[in-house]
Amino acid sequence: MDNISVSTTDVRIERHASQLSRQLKLLREKLFPPLSQKTLRTFTSGEAAQMIGVSDGYLRQLSLDGKGPQPDIAINGRRSYTLAQINELRNHMARIKPKDALSYLPQRRPGEKLQTLAVTNFKGGSAKTTTTLYLAQYLALNGYRVLAIDLDPQASLSSMLGVQPEFDLADGDTLYGAIRYDSSRRSLKDIVRKTYFDGLDLVPGNLELMEFEHETPRALGDRQRSGELFFRRVGVAISEVEADYDIVVIDCPPQLGYLTLGAVCAATSLLITVHPQMVDVASMSQFLLMTSDLLSVVRKAGGDLQHDFIKYVVTRHEPFDAPQSQIVALLRNLFGEDVLTATILKSTAIADAGLTKQSLYEIERGQVRRSTYDRALESVNAANGEVLAGIHKAWGRS
Ligand SMILES: Nc1ncnc2c1ncn2[C@@H]1O[C@H](COP(=O)(O)OP(=O)(O)OP(=O)(O)O)[C@@H](O)[C@H]1O
Ligand SMILES: [Mg+2]
Repeated sequence: MDNISVSTTDVRIERHASQLSRQLKLLREKLFPPLSQKTLRTFTSGEAAQMIGVSDGYLRQLSLDGKGPQPDIAINGRRSYTLAQINELRNHMARIKPKDALSYLPQRRPGEKLQTLAVTNFKGGSAKTTTTLYLAQYLALNGYRVLAIDLDPQASLSSMLGVQPEFDLADGDTLYGAIRYDSSRRSLKDIVRKTYFDGLDLVPGNLELMEFEHETPRALGDRQRSGELFFRRVGVAISEVEADYDIVVIDCPPQLGYLTLGAVCAATSLLITVHPQMVDVASMSQFLLMTSDLLSVVRKAGGDLQHDFIKYVVTRHEPFDAPQSQIVALLRNLFGEDVLTATILKSTAIADAGLTKQSLYEIERGQVRRSTYDRALESVNAANGEVLAGIHKAWGRS
């Protein structure tokens, strides 16, 4: 036997940590070489036409006339566009048909305030990150300027969006850099980064975000700093980049700490993800009670707690499972229209795509079984469409 029996727990765990980390690093280097940049697939002219809101024939004529960006033409004659080209075409259409500009370029207009959506629930694994990712990509594909903020030290959203927290980030490269209390604070403008997804920028996360949880109690105890209220800091940071975006989507960590409270206070709307199972719903009731307690303290301290909408999003839904159906019915009964009508289905297509760090929006339709892909994507689109309708309503659009 080796000396495991004599090593103390800290030494033993440290050894496990370094063995695991070495192994993971090797695995990751094999799967995702550090220098490999994630790229987004191109879209067929049919897909592009549908996204822009014109006919495929019209797009074809545009390219024949040499107007707008030129698609890539494969040997078989298939034309395809990048997302950046699709956005160029949206601009082109808005220029030549100014009367319909809003339908081609749906970005917010003067008087329509930045929408910040916090995706939250302290229940681990309730599909917060998946919901955030799909919503952010959906909005970007629809022509909005989107900022995704990864507030989870585990950084799953960042890695889905092509940033490897261990390789790609230096100190202060997460939201922590813009909400920290000391003099190293910097503007969020210097932290946001572009992703491979045109129109979707990212504030990545990593373990340094935990510092905020540790420093806030200290700052709260320090009377001289009482003006630097912790619950305003996320909002103040976001206001530094406000002009560049229409919608901010925040992926919250699975606990109700200062980061989550900061995000909830910065948010104009909340999305609470729910996996419809008895244990999850029971812990959600605790989550709601604790949240309401904490928020009332924040409100009394002067926090702004007006939200345009609060929606429960049922995720990983198995509609043919009787106990799940009962829970969904219960939620609808209790919360009425605060529960999205569409639910996000549990789907092997979503889970499998996640394994290669892609979403269904990124893989091509032929890559997984069609019926599975279509059903899953339909459910995600329907849920995202309802959220977008809520945003439009907040903007005062009909
Ligand atoms: N609709 C779905 N169908 C199938 N699998 C899903 C679906 N949504 C999420 N998953 C899978 O469930 C797991 C948990 O999802 P996710 O990471 O989004 O949850 P989370 O709430 O962000 O978790 P955490 O609390 O750890 O941050 C992931 O492996 C994800 O791929
Ligand atoms: Mg997560």
